Amino acid sequence: MPFGVIYSAIMPTVDNPTEKTLAELGVNDAQGVAEKFAEVRARFDRQVALDADGIRNLMLQEAWLGSDSDPASSLRNFWVGRKAGVLTLVTENWLKKSPPSLKGVVGKQFNELKTHIESKLEEQRKRIEEKTEASAATRDRIDLSLPGVLRPVGSHHLIRQVFQEIEDIFFSIGFSVVEGPEIETPYYNFEALNIPEFHPVRDDMDTFYLELSKGAATPLLLRTHTSPMQIRTMEKQKPPVRVIVPGKVYRRDNPDATHSFAFHQIEGLAVDTDITFCDFTGTIEYFVKQFFGPSVKTRFRPSYFPFTEPSVEFDVSCPFCAGTGTAAGGGTCSKCKGAAWIELFGAGMVDPAVYGFVNYDAKKVSGFAFGIGIDRLAMLKYGIDDIQVFFQNDVRFLRQFP
Ligand code: FA5
Repeated sequence: MPFGVIYSAIMPTVDNPTEKTLAELGVNDAQGVAEKFAEVRARFDRQVALDADGIRNLMLQEAWLGSDSDPASSLRNFWVGRKAGVLTLVTENWLKKSPPSLKGVVGKQFNELKTHIESKLEEQRKRIEEKTEASAATRDRIDLSLPGVLRPVGSHHLIRQVFQEIEDIFFSIGFSVVEGPEIETPYYNFEALNIPEFHPVRDDMDTFYLELSKGAATPLLLRTHTSPMQIRTMEKQKPPVRVIVPGKVYRRDNPDATHSFAFHQIEGLAVDTDITFCDFTGTIEYFVKQFFGPSVKTRFRPSYFPFTEPSVEFDVSCPFCAGTGTAAGGGTCSKCKGAAWIELFGAGMVDPAVYGFVNYDAKKVSGFAFGIGIDRLAMLKYGIDDIQVFFQNDVRFLRQFP
């Protein structure tokens, strides 16, 4: 029995006195009882005073170490364990089997011993706990003198920066930002913009259609431009309207240096009771000079969009060769190919037919709209010659625009 083995190792005697009754030990008076209890208490005091290693060695030696290998709890178990702890043996062999004349004195001695052992074990438990907490606190202490961990901070993508720049310019003249869905119905993307089915303009804007379950109410597509938000905004809001719409758009264009199947636009729309072509040109010129600097010149060329009338293409004098068509070192400017002008975006006065789709009175309101390709604008401003770099996420490129 482990108890007996360990007990004999702790005690100089081979016999374990708590395995015998008091009568077997030859104890028959109060003094004898007191002496036996004093022996047990002295043994306990010796053991509880050992340090963790001392207790561990003792317990290991005697195969008493608990499965958790914690010497303190093995010692506790050894003394107060219910099954075979010393106190249990004292209860069984000394207390219960004592003659009636000694019952009182044995009971008193037993209670004193029990209180003593339990309070000492509790003190030991607290001591260990405090020590563990103190060492954990030392381990976890933050050393404020150590250099900090430098975490690389990202930055906005150049496209996002350009969006922000353009939004700030339009905020300053009273426009607000609205955003809309990238998945659209043909009605908003085409029909309500005065582009009926089979209109040739749809060829230029061929797009991606979503695969829908049979019986779906309407086809759905990835919007080809931000112009559907003209309709959605006017449906919701009565004039005056002054909004810009930044967002992603999609077309089935083959990728090359100036084309991507996903790119970015900012739509602009201003509608009120007395907006003229002059307001339109003034607003666009203001924007372009804020964006490229005051020295650039602007010009309009006639163009065609089904949802604006008249429609224009807006050009800016080439900012790379100062509108000369000649590169700084001589020769043809590679950016404008010697044309001195660069095409920027399409725009125009809102076609009165569009007002019919949103219940505006075309006789009372007028306005202008524009749609700027952000990627190409960013390429122009920052001298980037391949649109694909915006989507490749090469950090060597991204880091140039912190
Ligand atoms: C439109 O998308 C019209 N919604 C613009 C508009 C709005 C006109 C309001 C009038 C009134 P367009 O198809 O030209 O127009 O495209 C506008 C710009 O998007 C182009 O100038 C170009 O900068 C950019 N763009 C067009 N296709 C691509 C592409 N595949 N990759 C990158 N940019 C493109």
